[in-house]
Amino acid sequence: MTAAALVEVRDLTRVFDVSKPWLNRVVEGETRTFLKAVSGVSFDIGRQETLALVGESGSGKSTVARMIVGLLEPTAGYVTIDSVDMWAPARHRERQMLRRRLQMIFQDPFASLNPRWRVERIVADPIRAFGLAKDNQEIEHRVGELLRLVGLDPADGTKYPHEFSGGQRQRICIARALSSNPEFIVCDEPTSALDVSVQAQILNLMRDLQDQLRLSYLFISHNLAVVRHMAARVAVMYLGRIVESAPTQELFERPRHPYTRMLIDALPDLAMSGRPRRPIRGEIPNPIDPPPGCAFHPRCPHAFEPCAVEMPALVDRARHAAACHAVAAGRL
Ligand SMILES: Nc1ncnc2c1ncn2[C@@H]1O[C@H](COP(=O)(O)OP(=O)(O)O)[C@@H](O)[C@H]1O
Ligand code: SF4
Ligand SMILES: [Mg+2]
Repeated sequence: MTAAALVEVRDLTRVFDVSKPWLNRVVEGETRTFLKAVSGVSFDIGRQETLALVGESGSGKSTVARMIVGLLEPTAGYVTIDSVDMWAPARHRERQMLRRRLQMIFQDPFASLNPRWRVERIVADPIRAFGLAKDNQEIEHRVGELLRLVGLDPADGTKYPHEFSGGQRQRICIARALSSNPEFIVCDEPTSALDVSVQAQILNLMRDLQDQLRLSYLFISHNLAVVRHMAARVAVMYLGRIVESAPTQELFERPRHPYTRMLIDALPDLAMSGRPRRPIRGEIPNPIDPPPGCAFHPRCPHAFEPCAVEMPALVDRARHAAACHAVAAGRL
């Protein structure tokens, strides 16, 4: 997009070697097996912008997230944050400095909190690690401030994670993520493990914090309904590739790709427009042995001759991109 984008992801690809151990392969006469979890993914995220990444479980969303925050090395392609290449070896020092500006929130708040640490220590950890306060008194003050910011009581700092509900634990994770004053937060299914009634509270909190602290988000969810009120743009992933991306309202009102249409048709009709709700058809294929041509063709109600043979390119028309032969041919 523009040089001003905070995050640039280009042709990001990740292949996992999922081969059996060497001896088994020799005995069973098998070759190595590779799984392409992410393939040629590109997008930009502007400052204070939210991009949503949506797709069924197994489509490669978490793998993209881990490459962006520096937890997993790409097989090909690159990620730059404020023009610093996350994976270029020569940029090691700059990357260390970037770590402070970049945080991640995970799906399961319990698994990502150390159960033996009090909340105040958990939230203070990044402040200490990055040397962001001059003494313990300043740290204590900052932790209290952060707990208040996420809707908890500063007195909660003396408790342990198990003393909180799921929603409160996610608030603790958010406070910890905010404690290094980040500019960009990758949120990987941040509310998927929570009760429906609590999800909206956490989503509202995240939106308020975005406005207040001028944050950029990569917001990942398997649920299209959740991203609708969170993101300016949505990118839909299917079996490791982006198959459609568009501004959020445009995507919901004029979806192009049959997979996106299927996801939208499966949503509850909250506007009560009388639109019939259709369940999701079929399942995501095994990425070790993906279907040829368009990976969606075994599930697609619009498939025609080229679909099983040729992979459709992602074609961008007026910032609305889709990878579909039927769309390109004007059939949809
Ligand atoms: N470390 C790994 N080793 C082997 N396969 C992996 C690994 N991590 C993820 N995968 C596979 O990559 C694919 C994408 O996974 P993931 O990125 O977790 O998808 P999502 O977050 O969309 O559910 C899945 O088929 C998953 O089994
Ligand atoms: S390329 Fe063909 S199979 Fe794939 S989504 Fe489009 S119409 Fe369906
Ligand atoms: Mg995931």
